[in-house]
Amino acid sequence: MSEWSLEGKVCVVTGANAGIGKAIAGGLAAAGGHVVLACRSLERGRAALAELSEAHDPQRLELLELDQARAASIEAFAEALRARHPQLHVLVNNAGAWFTTRQETPDGLELTFATNALGYFAVTNALLDLLRAGAPARVVNVASNLAKDLDLDDLQFTRRRYSGMKAYAQSKQANRLWSCELAERLRREGITVNAMHPGVVSTSIASTTPGLFGLASRIYFRLRGRSPEEGADTAVYLATSPEVEGKTGRWWVDRREHPPRFADPLQRAALWSAFEALVAQRASAAP
Ligand SMILES: NC(=O)c1ccc[n+]([C@@H]2O[C@H](COP(=O)([O-])OP(=O)(O)OC[C@H]3O[C@@H](n4cnc5c(N)ncnc54)[C@H](OP(=O)(O)O)[C@@H]3O)[C@@H](O)[C@H]2O)c1
Repeated sequence: MSEWSLEGKVCVVTGANAGIGKAIAGGLAAAGGHVVLACRSLERGRAALAELSEAHDPQRLELLELDQARAASIEAFAEALRARHPQLHVLVNNAGAWFTTRQETPDGLELTFATNALGYFAVTNALLDLLRAGAPARVVNVASNLAKDLDLDDLQFTRRRYSGMKAYAQSKQANRLWSCELAERLRREGITVNAMHPGVVSTSIASTTPGLFGLASRIYFRLRGRSPEEGADTAVYLATSPEVEGKTGRWWVDRREHPPRFADPLQRAALWSAFEALVAQRASAAP
């Protein structure tokens, strides 16, 4: 039987102040982990920290600022984490958003892709040294069954007509493809990488979507959605269970493994190169 236990292990959960991320943070703290809540708003992060501290040992909870759509924030976050912890054992990439209209980051990248897809890539890259130092370590990527429309020639929606749904689905397909590639690249380093679907979960992800579609989504989420804790369950399982030790590059729904649908090696390599190009573009745009 495996030795894996979360007791005393350092875990980072992105987007931990709300929805599924907050529930994952609670689940990891309950399993004995030392959980760093990575939140883009310290104010919202403090509120989540206070709430989680009522149910879990506050000594096991920590808050750091992270806006994963901004390179400078990712760098500052990684530095702050490194100053506090020499090792990282679990990284849960969870933060995500849905934008009805096409928006750009200050450095000119389409906001959905910059947040949901490039965000996971850049945060993980920035923490790789800590994950290597903490190995055996686990990366868990919150993705979605709503995954399609990835266009490697138009990731930025400059040629296609923008749609919030398409941009979101593209970013989630990218999460899954990248997750497989990362798993391959880290296979011999004692770092496993798995992606999961949380189900339809009643959170605030569609709360600002306007119009009839927004209203319909909110009603659907409320009526059919799982609780954030139910949505968090598979991610917590992947981070905590000895049963999944050594399993990597897999796709999970409700604690069950499914064949990864997005694993084509050529596409994986092309996406990785596209991520690197966007990171370079962002660096050259920096003041
Ligand atoms: N809800 C579902 O049915 C569903 C289904 C499939 C997959 N998912 C995935 O589950 C994950 C969590 O979503 P959720 O439903 O829990 O949504 P949510 O309640 O809206 O929570 C999203 C979290 O991500 C954070 N976030 C957004 N942009 C960020 C940025 N640039 N930097 C750092 N943090 C950022 C938010 O912070 P703020 O509070 O500051 O905005 C919030 O903490 C997402 O990856 C989503 O795609 C959700």
